[in-house]
Amino acid sequence: MNRKSISPNDKLSVAIIGFGIQGRGLTSGFLWQGVNVAAICDVDTTRRLDGVKRVDEFYKANPDKGKPGDCKAYNDFRDVLARDDIDMVCIATPDHWHAYITIAAMAAGKDVYCEKPLTYSVDETVKVMAATKKYNRILQVGAMQRSAIEFRTACELVRNGCIGKVKHVECSFGGPSRPHFDPKEDIPMEPGLDWDMWCGGAPLVKYNDQLSPRGVHNFYPMVWRMDDLFGIGYCGDWGAHHLDIAQWGLDMDNGGPVKVIRAERSEEDKANVELGGRAQSGAMFVFDGGVTVMHKPAQFGAIFHGSEGSVSVDRGAFEIKYGNNFMISTRNGDAKMSLDEAIDKARKIFLTDSVYKTKLYDTGGSHIADFISAVKSRKKACSNEDVGGHATILCQLLNISYVHDASFDWDPTNMTFANGTGDPAWLVREGGYRNNWTV
Ligand SMILES: NC(=O)c1ccc[n+]([C@@H]2O[C@H](COP(=O)([O-])OP(=O)(O)OC[C@H]3O[C@@H](n4cnc5c(N)ncnc54)[C@H](O)[C@@H]3O)[C@@H](O)[C@H]2O)c1
Repeated sequence: MNRKSISPNDKLSVAIIGFGIQGRGLTSGFLWQGVNVAAICDVDTTRRLDGVKRVDEFYKANPDKGKPGDCKAYNDFRDVLARDDIDMVCIATPDHWHAYITIAAMAAGKDVYCEKPLTYSVDETVKVMAATKKYNRILQVGAMQRSAIEFRTACELVRNGCIGKVKHVECSFGGPSRPHFDPKEDIPMEPGLDWDMWCGGAPLVKYNDQLSPRGVHNFYPMVWRMDDLFGIGYCGDWGAHHLDIAQWGLDMDNGGPVKVIRAERSEEDKANVELGGRAQSGAMFVFDGGVTVMHKPAQFGAIFHGSEGSVSVDRGAFEIKYGNNFMISTRNGDAKMSLDEAIDKARKIFLTDSVYKTKLYDTGGSHIADFISAVKSRKKACSNEDVGGHATILCQLLNISYVHDASFDWDPTNMTFANGTGDPAWLVREGGYRNNWTV
């Protein structure tokens, strides 16, 4: 933020960088929060012009919230960062760009809402965490399950001892990243797409309309998420949500695992060239004190197993089990109920005054509103650099274990491998960065 000070009634301005499908949703969130959306930046001309049009239409329909014509389109985020009248940026590019743009924005005095996973590599995460402190900026990572009551309730039950001592957590999501393959045929370039800027610090690969879909798309492009050069697979996609919840429930926001244990690869895994011969689930974290977190194929997002029962949570789903009985469940058993009923019942039965000592950060339900309020108060946001940074490192360590088929020890304080295990080269982008995009 380039203003000297800010008062609670000031109208803030945000620039959206990356106007794919997620950027579109976030823009709408900022508009409804009464923030001035001053710029839409995307390296795809069709999408950035569509973004400006949508903002103009919103202001036409809601003249109390802003003026049509004020929102400008940009191809290059550096032109956005050069504007003194922009307080915040919201980054929703593919993951390989997150760290560079976040640090550049902070150096330019902006506060940052950055989509999850916060960065592409552990080294980048450590640098973003340091930059947030160095430039004294507010950071909110878009791990917005922290703003949903079912996840907060699950973590509060765990943290207040309602299921006894927690020994094991299971998190469910898809597999790790995969090797990059260029398309066999030459694909005609999308008109108006700056492909060099899309690739950024990653290698300049052959244009592929699966990496960057044509025109204004209405689906989440999964190909770049799975590609070794641009993302860290489902470990950084859904893993960034569910591992974050495991970390919250285990009170590990300022910590991390001491060990990562590799998964056994099946013969089928080994034979699958497209997936890089990598295991797809089964790797495990060990935290201090022996608590384990295992990556499993799809079931519930996160399941906390305690000495007296278990709590399972997913988006819109919640369950408490004692022995073999579902005591509260939105999915199973005789006691099946709505999410609202389940949360209400769980809170009334378990979080009684005498038990409910640990109250977790309550954003009130909106991750974006929490960010804006942090920008105004200068107090840390819910998914700040420590919370979001450590959760992102979990995602990255898990992916590293699959990609290199390795177990290793980890020093969560210094964020390095420990006891002579691992290879520091796994923590940085392989082959370095292209052009001037070094993080
Ligand atoms: N919080 C959530 O639940 C959630 C859900 C979906 C996606 N996401 C995250 O949001 C981000 C975007 O995902 P998506 O599905 O919208 O991807 P997408 O590919 O649809 O959109 C990314 C956009 O960024 C643009 N872009 C690429 N390089 C750029 C640059 N240098 N400057 C400006 N724009 C650039 C692309 O042209 C594209 O329009 C990812 O980090 C993803 O993990 C979060």
